[in-house]
Formats: sequence, structure tokens, C-alpha cells
Amino acid sequence: MSNRNFAPRLERMRFSSSLASMRRIRELRASGVSVIDFGSKFDTPAHIKEAAVRYLEQPQASMYADPRGIPEFRAAIARKMARANDMVIDPDTEISVSPGGKAGIVATLLAIVDVGDEVLLEDPGWLSFDPMIRLTGATPVPFPIRPQNDFQLDPADLVARITPRTRAIVLCSPHNPTGAILSIATMREIARIAIEHDLWVVMDEAYEHFLFDDNRHVSIATIEGMRERTISIQTASKTYNMFGWRVGWVIAVPDVSERIRMVLSHMFTCVTSFVQAGAAAALDGPYAQGTLSIEEVSRNYETQRNTLVAGLRAVPGIRCTMPAGAYFAFPDISSFGLSSDEFASRLLANARVSGLSGAVFGGMGEGHIRFVFNAPLPEIEEGLARLQRYLTSI
Ligand SMILES: Cc1ncc(COP(=O)(O)O)c(C=O)c1O
Repeated sequence: MSNRNFAPRLERMRFSSSLASMRRIRELRASGVSVIDFGSKFDTPAHIKEAAVRYLEQPQASMYADPRGIPEFRAAIARKMARANDMVIDPDTEISVSPGGKAGIVATLLAIVDVGDEVLLEDPGWLSFDPMIRLTGATPVPFPIRPQNDFQLDPADLVARITPRTRAIVLCSPHNPTGAILSIATMREIARIAIEHDLWVVMDEAYEHFLFDDNRHVSIATIEGMRERTISIQTASKTYNMFGWRVGWVIAVPDVSERIRMVLSHMFTCVTSFVQAGAAAALDGPYAQGTLSIEEVSRNYETQRNTLVAGLRAVPGIRCTMPAGAYFAFPDISSFGLSSDEFASRLLANARVSGLSGAVFGGMGEGHIRFVFNAPLPEIEEGLARLQRYLTSI
């Protein structure tokens, strides 16, 4: 082939930095290097695997599944939405099951925005939102969230970037990479702005169950006037240690869901049937990790957070806001005089501790590094000891 031109939409994209980092850690570990990444070491709970295996043994497991999602999974999602999100939804018309939250977000964006549209997103923000928006042909328009404000969105920053081309706001709460949670007051402001400017709100709730200090997760769709303009994306990956299973779901009113399903139907046909059976057992079942409930997992994460943040704050030169949810800390390391990329690569090379450069989360992420804290406490303590030894030596 002589003319090897690639789609211009890929020009400002690169392979997912978090997946590249995971691959690098795997390679290092395979070569005998002990790397601490503070990441999850837990398995999917047994009852979830058993439900998937039971389904797999039935003849229907070989068939294409209902493209909306198998009925028992949609029913479980509807029960979960009523229980955890205070939302009564129709399992037949308001759910789109997707192969992971990621695919749900891309399908949503493909359904609601197009070339020439602008989409507002937080900076720093989850590193996949920007390329996902670009894939649709729309333009990502970042707005800053600041550590001085505990990474809480300032509505004025949103309003200042709205143009006649703005179609949607993409949000994530609890937030990756900062662990911030949108307050109810902020959500009400966002709702007011979205209604006034007739915008969609894409709400990523991947970490909805991980909340600390008595914080509560509120779905923005439940705020008055928001139901028909909010698209909520949820996933089994984080809550139930089902990362590799690839199953999530999108909640939206029927005409929006219909279009999201149309996109998904051409990309995936359906989500693997027995994976959905496992996910249904997850949503209805008692355990999130081993024999721990979601609440117990969240309490463990809170202890892990307290240990990590206290340890980071004890290092001269590091400042760290207190994450309110998810399992990410996003300390400011700018006083070391290194770019975030350089800081992260030196930390890995010298201390064998892995964090993700803040720069991959947007321009405002420069000067920061993202650590996760969903590993068991001894690993967090060991990682901190390595980090403290290295950083006090330079
Ligand atoms: C903020 C956020 N949203 C969505 C996802 C996607 O999760 P999954 O595709 O595994 O459901 C992730 C995980 O990488 C995430 O961090």
C-alpha cells in the first residue's frame, strides 16, 4: 500500500498511558523486579464466578444475547439503581449493557455529539475522556479544577467556556485522578447551567461505591430537570474486582438509550452472555471482595487512604489534598523541580514505586502524580517506605 494515511482524528491521541504503565509493571515483575503500584490484588468473589459458569453450561450461552443485555442482568441493574442511586428505571428501555464502562462512554458520545461540537471536561480529568471525545470528531474543551478548591469544580470555569457549539459536559464523581466528589451544591449549579444552555451531562460513576468520611454518592440524574439530559455510566469493574470481565451499563431515558444501543449493536452486537450472568450475581450478591461487603471494602480503602496520604504528607516537598472517594491520591510534587513524567520515571527506576504522571490527565495535572491505594495496607506501607527513602535522598 503506497498511501499510508491514517485518520487525522488520531493525530492528537496516544495509547492509554494507564494501560501502558500496567504492561510495563507486568514486564518488570516477570523479569523478577519487585514493583509496588499500590494496585488491587483481589480476585472476583467466588459467587460471581460460579454464576457465570452456571450460565456458561446452558445452551443459550453460545447464542448472541439480547443486545440490550440479558433480562436477568437488566432486572438486577434496575434493582441496584433503585437501591443505590435512588432512581426508578425501566429495565427494558433505559439500560444499555456495554462491554465495560469505557465502551458505554464512547457509545454515549457517538450518540450525542458530532464533528464541530464542543464537549466540556475537567482538567485534570480521566485520561480517556479527551481521546474518546476526539474519536467522535468533536472538540474537547477542558476547564480547570484546582487543588486549592479540593479539586471541586467552580461553575464559573464551566460557564466561561460555553459557546454556541457546546453540546455536553463530561463529569466523573468520585473523580479519577483526584478522588474529589462533586458536592450537592455544585451538582445543583451544574444542573442549572446544563438546563440554561441545553447541554447533555455525561456522568461517569465508575467509583460510586468508594466514599470516605461519611460522604454520600448522589446521581446527578436525580436532580430536578436532569433526568432527560443525563447519561449515567456505571461498571462492575471496580466494585467487584471484575476489571477483566468487561461489563458496564449506561442509564438514560428511552430515546437516548435507543441511540446508544444502536451504536453498541454495530460495534459489539451484545456483551458476553455469561459475563452478564456473573455481573447480575454481583449486583444482587453480598460480597464485593472475597467475603467483604461494599461498605467493608470502602472502609478498608479509607484506612489505606489515610495511611498513604499521611505518608506522602510526611515527605518534605509533597502536598496532598485528601481524596473524598475513589482510590486515588493526586499529590503535588512540583517542588522537586522535575516534570511529572520525569518524576514518575525516576520513582519507578530508583524506588521501584509506580505512579502515573499527572501530565497524562491534562495540562493542569502537570506537577502532580497519581497513586492508587486499593492494595492491602502492608503494600502501601512498603511502597511509602521506598518512596520516602528515595525522595529524602535526592
Ligand atoms: C473514571 C473511569 N471511568 C471509567 C472507567 C472504565 O472502566 P471499565 O471500562 O473497566 O468499566 C475507568 C477505568 O479505567 C475509570 O477510571
